[in-house]
Amino acid sequence: LKDEKINITFILYDGKRLQTEAKVGDTLLDVVVNNDLNIEGYGACEGTLTCSTCHVVLKDEDYKRLPEEPCDEERDMLDLAYGLTDTSRLGCQITLTKDMDGLEIRVPETINDARS
Ligand code: FES
Repeated sequence: LKDEKINITFILYDGKRLQTEAKVGDTLLDVVVNNDLNIEGYGACEGTLTCSTCHVVLKDEDYKRLPEEPCDEERDMLDLAYGLTDTSRLGCQITLTKDMDGLEIRVPETINDARS
């Protein structure tokens, strides 16, 4: 089961859709990095929960079915993200499961690197 793949789509603020294969067990940040997805500035802190540049917005139903709630550190970082929504998460904290096949992830326009 380790190398199971699903298909997910990142939707950029300009409407561009980046559809990609993703490995189950990877985070959204891993997917962006491993597949060389061209999302400017994404994941600046490499998943160490210090930047918020990996901010993504999920559909309501997807947000609700994520297995894990955001931890306190993630919430703190999300507070610093521009354009925060009720269904915002940090992509480096979302681990893909098999039932996320077909997931659509919106990437907000303004990326805020909390470190700068
Ligand atoms: Fe920096 Fe997610 S990559 S908080």
